[in-house]
Formats: sequence, structure tokens, C-alpha cells
Amino acid sequence: MQFISKAKLSNFKRAFVRADLDVPISPEGEVLETFRLDKLKPTVELLQENNVHPVLAGHIGRPKNGEQSSELSTSNLKPLFDEWFGAEHYSLLENLRFNSKEKERSEDFAEELASQADIYINESFATSHRDSTSMTLVPSLLPAYAGLQLEKELKNLSKVSDSKESPKIAVVGGVKESKKEAIYLLAEKFDRVLVVGKLQKEEEDPEKDNVVYPLDYSGDGFDIGPKTSEKYSKEIFDAKIVIWAGPAGAYDKGFFEGSRKIAKAVLSSQAFSVVGGGDTIACLNQLNLLDDFDFVSTGGGAMLDFLSGKNLPALESLGYYE
Ligand code: 3PG
Repeated sequence: MQFISKAKLSNFKRAFVRADLDVPISPEGEVLETFRLDKLKPTVELLQENNVHPVLAGHIGRPKNGEQSSELSTSNLKPLFDEWFGAEHYSLLENLRFNSKEKERSEDFAEELASQADIYINESFATSHRDSTSMTLVPSLLPAYAGLQLEKELKNLSKVSDSKESPKIAVVGGVKESKKEAIYLLAEKFDRVLVVGKLQKEEEDPEKDNVVYPLDYSGDGFDIGPKTSEKYSKEIFDAKIVIWAGPAGAYDKGFFEGSRKIAKAVLSSQAFSVVGGGDTIACLNQLNLLDDFDFVSTGGGAMLDFLSGKNLPALESLGYYE
């Protein structure tokens, strides 16, 4: 795998940066949270310092059937990027998922995107578990590199996977359907998987002693209850490694208590702590605790897949597993 931190960037003129632009945006077009954009900034600045023109491309949300909407348009990011990078000194493509070819792994679309640059940079770890045109096909058409943030993600997450220390605990919540599969895969690699949020054990789920579901709920089911947070906090306190993806409660509806207690337990333990995913970041940011963790991953699903030992298609395209 090649890294832009070690590349001779002056050999290139235009970089196609597959960026992580998937940030929450209000119906009025206001960017509500900039963590992922903040993490993109150093790579863009490095390109500009080397006179390489950045072509920023990414997705926001999940537009249905490629349907366009002003709320999911990347133009909402322009005021911020103009201020950061200078309006004339970068290009920004429209939400790649407005084109249904993004999801279909289309050769035509890949060629169209690749024709805009002479180097490809993956700076979207959070999307690296998706086998889509911009993530896995475009890098086969250009010299392909990992961006500065992707390099940090791989370094810190490998530290978790490679560590032989125990107990290793995973706290997993959230609503995306892929979480259930992730929980049982993680249970093979972690001593304990503590489930938070709405996910409940269902009949078809395997019997696994090290997967623990909440004992009680509060706030009409919108948060984990006091017995659960107490039990989980005790376990977390003795951990050597803790990873966490998915808030404990519906923080967007004001249910922060469970997440606050989990966060406090992680931070008062001696564990190497990694948190990740858009919602977890937004929740911990509102609690003012985000900066206290050892590493904050931009990826939610991607982080869980990586830590459960799955090969991520976009990393495969960059030669990470060779
Ligand atoms: C994320 O937020 O995890 C990434 O942007 C991937 O989004 P997706 O789950 O819609 O593919």
C-alpha cells in the first residue's frame, strides 16, 4: 500500500480525493457537525502545498435510487471549503450517490471520474467497506494512495487487532441493519461484546456467552437503564482495550445518560480506547468528551468490519492485504 505521507506529490497535477463528506446537514443546508471534514483538511492542505489541485468527491447520506435533493448536495459544504481551501484552489464534485452508477461498480463512471486527475487518494475510511465505483474501481485506473487520515486509522485500528492484551471489550449500538452481523463476528475476536441501544436478542441469533444484551431500559426504551450501565461500567473498568461504535441511547432526542455513563467508565479505565462512527462522534461531541479518547475513528461500520477481521474492499483495491 502506498501512502501520500511518503509520496513525491510534485510528480502529480490533479488528485481525485475520495473524501469522507458524509456529515449531518439540516433541512436548511447547514452543516451540523464537521468532525469528518476536519479530518480531511490535512490531506487537502498537503496537496495544495505541493501544487496538486484537489478534486474532492464523496457521498452524503443514502439518496434513494440516486434521487437528488438539496439537503444531500455537496454544495452545502462549499461555504466551509471555500473558507478553508480558497474558492479557486479546489474542485468539489456533486454527491456521487446522486448517480446510480456509483453503487453499481460502473466502468464508464469510473473512467469519467478517473479522467479528472492523475492520482487517486482514499481519504474515506468510513466508506471503505463499500464496494462502489469511487471506492474500488477508480483506484484501479490511477496510481492509488492512502490519505493521511486513512493512514492513522490503519495504524490505530491495527493496534487494537494485533494486541494480545485482555480483556478486550467492544461496545456496539446503533440501528443500521449490518450491526447484528458485526456483533457476532466481533464476538470471535473480543472477550466481551456489550450491546447498547435498541438492538435486542432475537431467536435466530446464535447463543454466545460473550455477547451481552441490556438488562433494562429507561426513557420509554430510548436509552439503556441504570442496571445495564452499572453492569457494563464494571466490566469496562477492568478492560485493557475498549472499542465503541453506536450510542447507548437516542442522543438526537436528548437521551444522553447511558452514553455518558459508558463514556465515563471507558475514560476512568486504563484501557486503550477507540470510538467511531458518525452518531457516536456526534453524541460524544455534545457531551464534550470526544477529545478524551485515545483514538476517534471516522468509521462506524467500516471500523467494526476491520476489527472483526473482514477484508475491506476499498483497502483491498489499495493493496493493503498483499
Ligand atoms: C458511514 O457513515 O458509515 C459511511 O459514510 C458509509 O455510509 P453507508 O452506510 O450509507 O454506506
